[in-house]
Amino acid sequence: MALFKKKKTDSGLPEILPEHIAFIMDGNGRWAKKRGLPRKFGHREGAKNFRRIARHCKDIGIKNITFYAFSTENWKRPKDEVDAIIELFREYIVDVRNYIGEEVRVLFLGDKSIFDADLQKKMIDLEEDTKDNHEMTMLLAINYGGRDEVVHVSKILAQKAADGELKPEDITEDMFGSYLYTKDVPDVDLMIRPSGELRLSNFLIWQSAYAEFYFTDVLWPDFSPEELEKALVNFAGRSRRFGGV
Ligand code: IPE
Ligand code: IPE
Ligand code: MG
Repeated sequence: MALFKKKKTDSGLPEILPEHIAFIMDGNGRWAKKRGLPRKFGHREGAKNFRRIARHCKDIGIKNITFYAFSTENWKRPKDEVDAIIELFREYIVDVRNYIGEEVRVLFLGDKSIFDADLQKKMIDLEEDTKDNHEMTMLLAINYGGRDEVVHVSKILAQKAADGELKPEDITEDMFGSYLYTKDVPDVDLMIRPSGELRLSNFLIWQSAYAEFYFTDVLWPDFSPEELEKALVNFAGRSRRFGGV
């Protein structure tokens, strides 16, 4: 089972921690609205919190963390909001080593080809430069959609079949999984969604088939390490059966 013993003996943390935590960073807009500020201020605060939580996960010894930063559906938003989010994304990937250190592998989930060539290059270079780092893997989902990912893999396999490299009966769950953006990390153990919404919004639909879900009304910019600790304690008390008894 995908569990491991925690690295540090922080008093409030349970013995058993998830190996892979996924965060849906939701509620930035409402955080700003509550303060009478434009939505982009909420995104700036949400990005700061991403940095704090990523750092904290590394400090407590979590091995894999995934953040949902921008979905394939989020392009529907007003252009100035989308531009502000992409600008933040640019700032944060340039600065990544300053907040998570040298030992973290960074991977991007989603179709990069939609971004400007210079940004695509920064993303690819960061993946390449960090590929041998093992302390933690941080996955950033940007222009990501779970259905889009499943279609993406299906097209690759269909092409192989058309080229005679693969027979339909050769396709297994493991093989399919080995073409997903997350091929190098285990399935999600704990999926956390703040902001009171009780849905997945097209995030990691394959990888969270047996994830435990944790929902809280706290908005993402306010989701603190203490809130994370509550989620971890809650997770440690769950009984995971994976279809067994
Ligand atoms: C999440 O916060 C950030 C993105 C989807 C990019 P929202 O912007 O969805 O915040 P709410 O849900 O409107 O409060
Ligand atoms: C999910 O939040 C996407 C991200 C947090 C990046 P949304 O705010 O887009 O989700 P819905 O529209 O409420 O389902
Ligand atoms: Mg939202």
